[in-house]
Amino acid sequence: MDRGRVEDYARYIDLRSGVLRRRLRWTSDGDIGRFDLTFERFASLADPHLMVVRVQVQALDGPASVEIQASLNSHVDNWGHPHWDLVSQGSSHQMVSLEVATRSTQKTLAMSAQLTTNREDVSFEGRDDRGNPGIRLRTELEEGGSFTVDKLVAMYTSRDADDPLAASQSNLLEAIRLGYEVLFNEHKDAWREFWNRSDVILEGDDEAQLAIRHALFQLRIAASSDDERVSIGAKTLSGFGYRGHVFWDNEIFVLPFFTYTQPSLARNMLMYRWNTIQGARRKAADNGYVGAQYAWESAESGDEVTPRWVPDWKDPTKKIRIWTGDIQIHITADIAYAIWQYWQVTGDDEFMRHVGTPIILETAIFWGDRVEPVSDGYALSQVIGPDEYHHHVDNNAFTNAMVRWHLEKAVELREWLHQTAPEDVTALDRRLGITAETLTKWRDIAGRLKFNHDPKTGLIEQFDGFFELPDVEWDRYGDRTASMQSLLGIEGANQHQVLKQADVIMLLCLLRDQFDDKTWRANWDYYNPRTDHSYGSSLGPAIHAWAACELERPDIAYKHFMRAARADLQDARGNAGDGIHAASAGGLWQALVFGFAGLELTQDSHRVSPRLPTHWKRLSFSFCHRGERHEVDIRRA
Ligand code: BGC
Repeated sequence: MDRGRVEDYARYIDLRSGVLRRRLRWTSDGDIGRFDLTFERFASLADPHLMVVRVQVQALDGPASVEIQASLNSHVDNWGHPHWDLVSQGSSHQMVSLEVATRSTQKTLAMSAQLTTNREDVSFEGRDDRGNPGIRLRTELEEGGSFTVDKLVAMYTSRDADDPLAASQSNLLEAIRLGYEVLFNEHKDAWREFWNRSDVILEGDDEAQLAIRHALFQLRIAASSDDERVSIGAKTLSGFGYRGHVFWDNEIFVLPFFTYTQPSLARNMLMYRWNTIQGARRKAADNGYVGAQYAWESAESGDEVTPRWVPDWKDPTKKIRIWTGDIQIHITADIAYAIWQYWQVTGDDEFMRHVGTPIILETAIFWGDRVEPVSDGYALSQVIGPDEYHHHVDNNAFTNAMVRWHLEKAVELREWLHQTAPEDVTALDRRLGITAETLTKWRDIAGRLKFNHDPKTGLIEQFDGFFELPDVEWDRYGDRTASMQSLLGIEGANQHQVLKQADVIMLLCLLRDQFDDKTWRANWDYYNPRTDHSYGSSLGPAIHAWAACELERPDIAYKHFMRAARADLQDARGNAGDGIHAASAGGLWQALVFGFAGLELTQDSHRVSPRLPTHWKRLSFSFCHRGERHEVDIRRA
């Protein structure tokens, strides 16, 4: 099609039923005439091993020979680095298979595919290009004649089956038996079920409505339905940015949506942290601590995988040292927070007993060792908080408050376990070496860990010495199109009161019951104008939207909300090609539900305090609290 003319090109993603459609009219540059082509493809939500493509070709102007080639291609790479070693391949008649292995971990992926058509007079021929086997299919079309080809692909990895090729082949045979319509209906039913529990309806603002549905769609296709050994990476599975690594983005930004509407998927992702706790133990030990310390960037094993050096974006011949893997330690408390939230929302005591409490206690042990006793209490020095423009800071307020919270919950949970499963406590105490002194120490740290909160003004200092740094002369940067860090340089930003993303404000949102009105207002007024909203982190805007709602400022909240809404749909940050901004997508849901709707759970019920922008006519969603489903439907009178 690089010759001839393409017209009427259109491509749609149908969020309701998870189908990508493409159609175009192609006119040959010779005398063969015009053809209408449509493509329809889906990765089945009902069967994660199955992918389906349907292609339809219609000859508009006269008889024509049509040939379609379909293959399984192993020649894919990650920024120039090939993914796969070839293991085996084969093709015969309508069937083709390909088995490849990841290059360093040698995990096998086996795929089997079959082409079927609605016409009798079709010839099939195998094509055996190395690493790219396929099928060539030919037919003769009469004028106005059309034909449809379905490509069904089944895939298994060595993580799913002992013999992935055999598993993919038997899955394929079953898919062929069921046929396209049945497979498509099963897929659509799975999507209907998802939207039924998780949709958010927003009337009066089509752009915001589309943005939230797009965000939830992206999150759903990134979550595994049944695998407890994976989580969602910062860029989901949609791009190579951050190479699939899992950050706090998942627990703090993405998970609440799943916890409230799809708890079984949230549980899977928390199980990922349980299944990788060995890596967290190794990280603590490597740093000279006891207990478990989660990696800032985590992959398959839970070991720290943050790159230490990356090419300088201004001069790629130079390298920049990345410190987050060494000292951005708050993620360990963030994971505890997500576990606690999951428990509060679902009431899943089984999980809390066998997984949640053991994780929270073992990570509390790490904190007990990591904090430094100082003359007037305890400190956590040399860290990076959520605002990554500042590194090697002492007593980051977010980190310290989350650690304090973590240790308080650890004491509470140990008591809960003692009451509900005394035999478990004995075993856990023995395994982790928890004694009465441990609990006393945790209480003491929680009470005396430094937290610079001025009772008179309500202001919380982001870290020791933050208020002494000079302010940025914002007037000088009125028409900038780059982040303050790239304009001031890494050290320049480090030496100014400028934030990459919500830090103290993030804390207010997460522990919102702990802070009074005065504190909310003082910190919002102080930190909001010092934040690099458009060019800093994509994690910021949705949280600022939520926070502005807490301050009853839906007008300001709306501006922040739309900044998050456009991160991917309008590529507002120019990096959507690296992949979907998962945290921003999850943040959108939280801004709507916790912010604009003001949802709060109480002991056995919930309340909402709506504060919608004036042009929003309706905000409606549902959630599940302790097994019971609730609908929230806010309508402007
Ligand atoms: C943000 C982090 C985030 C990471 C991955 C960074 O730019 O500052 O908070 O975890 O991106 O999304």
